[in-house]
Amino acid sequence: MSILNMMNKKMMMPDSYKELPDEEMKKRILHIKKKYGEKLFIPGHHYQKDEVIQFADATGDSLQLAQVAQQNNKAEYIAFCGVHFMAETADMLTENDQVVVLPDMRAGCSMADMANMQQTNKAWEKLTDIFGETIIPLTYVNSTAEIKAFTGRNGGAAVTSSNAKHILRWALTQKKRILFLPDQHLGRNTAYDLGIPLNRMAVWDPIEEKLLYDGDVQEIKVILWRGHCSVHEKFTVNNIKSIKERDPAINVIVHPECTHEVVMQSDFSGSTKYIIDTINKAEPGSKWAIGTEMNLVQRIINEHPDKQIESLNPDMCPCLTMNRIDMPHLLWSLEQIDKGEPAGVIKVEEYITKDAISALNRMLSIS
Ligand code: 13P
Ligand code: SF4
Repeated sequence: MSILNMMNKKMMMPDSYKELPDEEMKKRILHIKKKYGEKLFIPGHHYQKDEVIQFADATGDSLQLAQVAQQNNKAEYIAFCGVHFMAETADMLTENDQVVVLPDMRAGCSMADMANMQQTNKAWEKLTDIFGETIIPLTYVNSTAEIKAFTGRNGGAAVTSSNAKHILRWALTQKKRILFLPDQHLGRNTAYDLGIPLNRMAVWDPIEEKLLYDGDVQEIKVILWRGHCSVHEKFTVNNIKSIKERDPAINVIVHPECTHEVVMQSDFSGSTKYIIDTINKAEPGSKWAIGTEMNLVQRIINEHPDKQIESLNPDMCPCLTMNRIDMPHLLWSLEQIDKGEPAGVIKVEEYITKDAISALNRMLSIS
């Protein structure tokens, strides 16, 4: 067997965990939580399944989870229930001796994979040839630690969907134009919200290595990396049209990873926290169609029997990578910690952390 296969095997949950009854898994997870107390911390992103969220010590959107990780100095182990970039962020924001594990290493984010360093170096070389030193990079936290390090090295900051407006406003006080990685939709929606017209935004195509823009390039204020979330791109203007035709009283609320057209046709848009808070505050009897990941939409529906809530797209499925973390993986991950053999340890290399942390710290200090 090759070393790679052996390593992979060690990082994978044995199949036997899948056979365990829920009650048995629950008992064993609660036993470890009790045994470790504050030495074990389980943050859970809002998109996680209920079977995982029931064990979370903190839930939140990306910004809140970054903040709670930074503030926690008691936990020796952090079992991060979310996706890879979130666990990397938690690792960089915690002390060196705090161990962050991701219960399933296959829980990535397809959007974060849409910008790699080779592409980014190429883009930066070409863009600085055209624009000189007039560009500041900003990266959505849904990006690899390397991209955050690139951003930090070049004076920029990370952003989340909660603070994007704040950070873009700050960035425009630093430089004439912004390179926004890797989500073109969050970049476009936020810049538009700040009053930047669409005709002053260009798109960088990392595959073709081309700047897509009609007009005088010196007019460009924002360069949007051509990346997207395949979950949120599934919400369409037609979904909104048919919901509004059925009942104009239905409020449409979407995540800003949706396309610009969808955000423009919606009544509200914002982060997962914003969506939850808005529905919490809504009048009993009010009607809502939500455009975001399905585990969260279903949880909101269950928590508000007094409101009429549905998914904006009736054929929506959950974010498949977020969904990889389930009760068997959480149990296995905690039992590996308990055996003294933590698996799925996320450790960002020192030289990357050094620069990435400045992008994250800039974000947290501006937020
Ligand atoms: P939030 O920061 O709004 O929770 O979004 C994270 C995410 O991945 C949305 O797809
Ligand atoms: Fe990534 Fe989209 Fe899943 Fe969010 S919903 S984690 S952006 S793939």
